[in-house]
Amino acid sequence: MTQKERCLKAVAEKVSSCRKCELSKNRKKTVPGTGKPDAKVMVIGEAPGKNEDEQGLPFVGRAGSILDEALEKAGKKREDVFITNVVKCRPPNNRDPRKKEVESCNEYLEKQIKTVDPDIILPVGNHALQRVLSKKKISQHRGKIYKKNGRKYMPTYHPAATIYNRKIRPRFEKDIQKAFEGG
Ligand code: URA
Ligand code: SF4
Repeated sequence: MTQKERCLKAVAEKVSSCRKCELSKNRKKTVPGTGKPDAKVMVIGEAPGKNEDEQGLPFVGRAGSILDEALEKAGKKREDVFITNVVKCRPPNNRDPRKKEVESCNEYLEKQIKTVDPDIILPVGNHALQRVLSKKKISQHRGKIYKKNGRKYMPTYHPAATIYNRKIRPRFEKDIQKAFEGG
């Protein structure tokens, strides 16, 4: 096992027994995140949903298939990226994670970012954008590059948003492709 694999495993183990916030009460499984330990591209969603909570894996529902499709169109696979969420446990009834829950969970995300050390990080959707870059309105910021603490970020739409708003799907797919080209 490589150093990175060991580090990520240690994070996942800590998460699996974490009780730092209220979200630990109703979760079925923790969803620490998965993917390539030295991925160039890291995708950060908001929080696990129902399917994710049952399987312990991120983006396995409908939004996940849209993400997979976009990756495929960019000539990539899910295994080529590292995928995680701002919080690692499902909020009851999919409510928005609270500020203090995000703050409690942040150490895990930080450690994952530091370990994977990706070239570019994609917060997907309004909530991840707000939580990761303190910005609102994904439509204004998507596809643009931001630098924060020496890291490169490029927000894009949440794949689930492209279910209801089909015209943004090509933009989402374009952003995913652009991420692999370095942003
Ligand atoms: N939506 C998210 O933001 N994250 C997931 O893991 C699944 C759906
Ligand atoms: Fe711990 Fe994060 Fe789960 Fe809260 S959401 S219990 S901080 S792993």
